[in-house]
Amino acid sequence: MIARHKFLCALFFVLLFGSAHAESPLAQPEPHARPPRAAIASANSQATDAGIEILKAGGNAFDAAIAVSATLGLVEPESSGIGGGAFMLLHIAANDQQVFIDARERAPLAATRDMYLGADGEPLRERSINGALAAAIPGLPAGLVHLAKRYGKLPLAASLAPAIKLAREGWTFSSKNAAMLGFRREVLATNPAAAALFLANGQSPKPGDRLSNPDYAAMLQRLAENGEASFYEGKFAQSLVDGVRAGGGIWSMQDLASYRVVERPVLRIEHRGQQIITVPPPSSGGVALATMLNIMAGFDYVKLPRVARIHLLTESMRRAFRDRALYLGDPDFVEVPVALLASPEYAAGLRAGIHPTKATASAALPGIGDFSDRPSTSHFSIIDTDGNLMAMTQTVNLPFGNAFVVPGSGFLLNNEMDDFSAKPGTPNAYGLVGEDANAIAPGKRPLSSMTPSFVIGPDRIAAIGTPGGSRIITMVLLGILDLMDGGSAEHAAALPRLHHQYLPDVLSAEPAALDESEISELQAMGHTVSAGERSWGNMQVVVWDKQANTVEAGSDPRWKGVGKASTADDGVIFR
Ligand code: GLY
Repeated sequence: MIARHKFLCALFFVLLFGSAHAESPLAQPEPHARPPRAAIASANSQATDAGIEILKAGGNAFDAAIAVSATLGLVEPESSGIGGGAFMLLHIAANDQQVFIDARERAPLAATRDMYLGADGEPLRERSINGALAAAIPGLPAGLVHLAKRYGKLPLAASLAPAIKLAREGWTFSSKNAAMLGFRREVLATNPAAAALFLANGQSPKPGDRLSNPDYAAMLQRLAENGEASFYEGKFAQSLVDGVRAGGGIWSMQDLASYRVVERPVLRIEHRGQQIITVPPPSSGGVALATMLNIMAGFDYVKLPRVARIHLLTESMRRAFRDRALYLGDPDFVEVPVALLASPEYAAGLRAGIHPTKATASAALPGIGDFSDRPSTSHFSIIDTDGNLMAMTQTVNLPFGNAFVVPGSGFLLNNEMDDFSAKPGTPNAYGLVGEDANAIAPGKRPLSSMTPSFVIGPDRIAAIGTPGGSRIITMVLLGILDLMDGGSAEHAAALPRLHHQYLPDVLSAEPAALDESEISELQAMGHTVSAGERSWGNMQVVVWDKQANTVEAGSDPRWKGVGKASTADDGVIFR
């Protein structure tokens, strides 16, 4: 809205007085070439502070990202960590380039397509969720080393220093840690090394308690001194393999030694004169965003009444998620028709099947299965004073990953193997389904919903992302549309959320998202509405307005007091 308002003012002036002059008070000022200050929004104040410390020490956004990421792994262990993986999206201001670093976990080389099926051919859900067999090979340690080597200004040791110090001296347990621990307490208690970290003397810590983790500090110290070999080769790698195998897992030294991060071309989407830069497979998020935005582009939706717009958004979501289930998987293993799925022509075909006032039953679209969201994973967004941007989403999958800690390692392993479809076409433990494209194979990356993204408009540039399982994709969609409408970083992060994912055929709504009359109107169109659900997501956004010369950061208020948006020069801005 703000951008459009400015444009209309300028147009009015030109129509009235001819061409705009540089000295005219109504002429557009030259956009600023550099942000006036840096900003970070992350899911935990200790992580944001670690990143700010690095920016103040002369680090760029990518050095700060290493500090935030390693600190989140310590202070938000339910969401992400060194035992998991990440997608990193970088905007390098100096050459106006964008880079996608895929540090996603990989299936062990001994993995087999049916490894989570019982004798009856049905999934044994416990196995892909809890314990050593659920763990894929971690990608985050290699990702952090790669980021420092290729894109950082500071040595890795400097960027890891705040997390190392916090692990040695103690970090503060939060209300979010406590809430998430509640979900996973029983299974954590079954693993002595996990219990030693999170349930000292069998007790759950209380918000405000200080916890230290010397093993985590030592592991980061080795990573800082000796790089990725300290994790993926030699004594430490052998201890991980031994620990996982003793717990019933199938890791080998070759799995660790052969792990590599992959740089892949970013996915670009044009919408309403702005560019969205996002992530390709093995994320499903970028392709789904392209499908949804391309469908919406054929409707004059900005002018439509709210319910009509929600109807069209819901129909776009339904179709994008149907395609997610059918076509998406690791592009190193399956041919994913990205160019086709992300093309305006393909979207036009999907759009043709949308009735302006009637819901399409998902069952009427050929497809499969059922999805659900999972409240884990972590996202952060950073901008530095050179204009470099970082949008990074990292995960161990379900809260506290597989709840399994190899003794002496200091971190949880992931249960990312559950992001594969254990039996194509059949929902897994949390309702996620896929087809052959996302079947398990040795060395394959499981399909992800993580969608770190940039919005590059003529006036404003933003980095955005969130955790939230399959709901990540629709949250990022709504956040992008809000930013395009002129919403602030804080507004986009706080926005009430709506979500449809094809199956179940339900439009989910947060408590503040729909009023009674809107629910009735949507129901009359044929939508099944689940209104007033619990809230979801933990969005972190930074925005640089090049015209107004401002930088703002917004941290999701749903975890008030835990997430923190800060700038490098004044500390806290929003909370
Ligand atoms: N593990 C959550 C995701 O990658 O989508």
